Amino acid sequence: MPTSDHADWIRRDAAVVWHGFTQMSCYADNTPLIIDRAEGRELVDTDGNRYLDAISSLWVTTLGHRVPELDDAVRAQLDRVAHTTLLGNGNTATIRFTEALVPRLPTPGCHVLYASDGAAAVEQALRIAFQWWTNQGEHSRQHYLALGDAYHGDTIGALSLGAGGFGTDVYDPLRFPVLRTPGYHDPHWDDAAVAALDEHGDELAALVIEPLVQGAAGMAVTTPQQVRRVVDHAQALGILVIADEVAVGFGRTGTLFASEQCGIEPDLVAMGKGITGGYLPLSATAASPKVYDGFLGEDLSETTLYHGHSYSGNALACAVALRHLELLDDWDVLTNVVARADELGTLLAEQVTDAPGVGDVRRRGLMTGVELAPPADGLRWGRRVCAAAVRRGVLLRPLGDVVVLMPPLTVTAEEINRIVETLAAALDEVCGD
Ligand SMILES: Cc1ncc(COP(=O)(O)O)c(C=O)c1O
Repeated sequence: MPTSDHADWIRRDAAVVWHGFTQMSCYADNTPLIIDRAEGRELVDTDGNRYLDAISSLWVTTLGHRVPELDDAVRAQLDRVAHTTLLGNGNTATIRFTEALVPRLPTPGCHVLYASDGAAAVEQALRIAFQWWTNQGEHSRQHYLALGDAYHGDTIGALSLGAGGFGTDVYDPLRFPVLRTPGYHDPHWDDAAVAALDEHGDELAALVIEPLVQGAAGMAVTTPQQVRRVVDHAQALGILVIADEVAVGFGRTGTLFASEQCGIEPDLVAMGKGITGGYLPLSATAASPKVYDGFLGEDLSETTLYHGHSYSGNALACAVALRHLELLDDWDVLTNVVARADELGTLLAEQVTDAPGVGDVRRRGLMTGVELAPPADGLRWGRRVCAAAVRRGVLLRPLGDVVVLMPPLTVTAEEINRIVETLAAALDEVCGD
């Protein structure tokens, strides 16, 4: 039972805060954690209990929490300025970060348009792709090819690209239609995508794809070769390619961007989540020179991209994002990701793959989905297994009956061990007989 202090925080929380993806009528009964602070990769609740953050605070935290170097970067920027608008003017923090980011992106020579959330970065890419064609006097390319099981965020444009589910079907009347072919759960998804590109290529503004892993689909994975085949085919037909790197970007799969492993050069890249190391809301859309040049013209002319958010390119966020990018190199973080990911794979094979209740284990780098196979509907194994792990001090959150493991990129071998042992014990408790 929560102590009175913890219970009081839950009461205050439920009285005023509306939590996303959460049924508020029973929020308080589902023993939520109320986090008060963090140390490294551990979160500390209002009662002083500690939890290893094995979901990187919903896939955003990269180096850990309260990283002194990142804290200092925010403090130093506070002494200059927190935010100034990027609409028609610039900011030194944004310029410095963008100069460091552009050479690391899979789209050489790109320009970067900022927003705050992943969905907004996707939305920007949609608008840019659409207008790029109309700027050239081409008005017949008004559609997008998106994949089955896709998730690109919660704004209406991003929801339209997404395949639905997550209780969002109610918005179907608001969604614009997209051409949809199977996602990565179908091992032959690339054949279907290539056929659709051939059949509908003339109507398509862009192909939208999550390279390598469809995260919210329950960590559905594919091969770099299949991604490259489809992307190359789209680009050979002149169709723009939007890579949604919001989840897979910034190191999760073992390279800074998943597009690198696939050997693709998308025309547009949407990114967010790990871009600031999980510190501040920042997202971005990178556009290739071909795309960017298509918007150049007379001042105030119709070719201008009339789009921009109030907090676009926020200086505090860019300052911490720059320091984050430096630390990824200085600490050789991606080498740690590859080594820890290998260990994770081995331990999962030893302790989880054949454990009671497990149907499938999918992983690329540190992005992992453990799919449960409940014998009947309504058992809510995903939620119950994660709750059992939380009781043991490892914070997990499921996607339906898929238990997601997404440890921070600086996770240690000992912590990988702790995560897998805890998951195995939770599986035994919930799914064992
Ligand atoms: C692939 C992908 N795109 C976009 C988004 C939306 O990002 P945000 O929640 O920051 O709006 C997500 C979030 O999980 C995602 O996984």
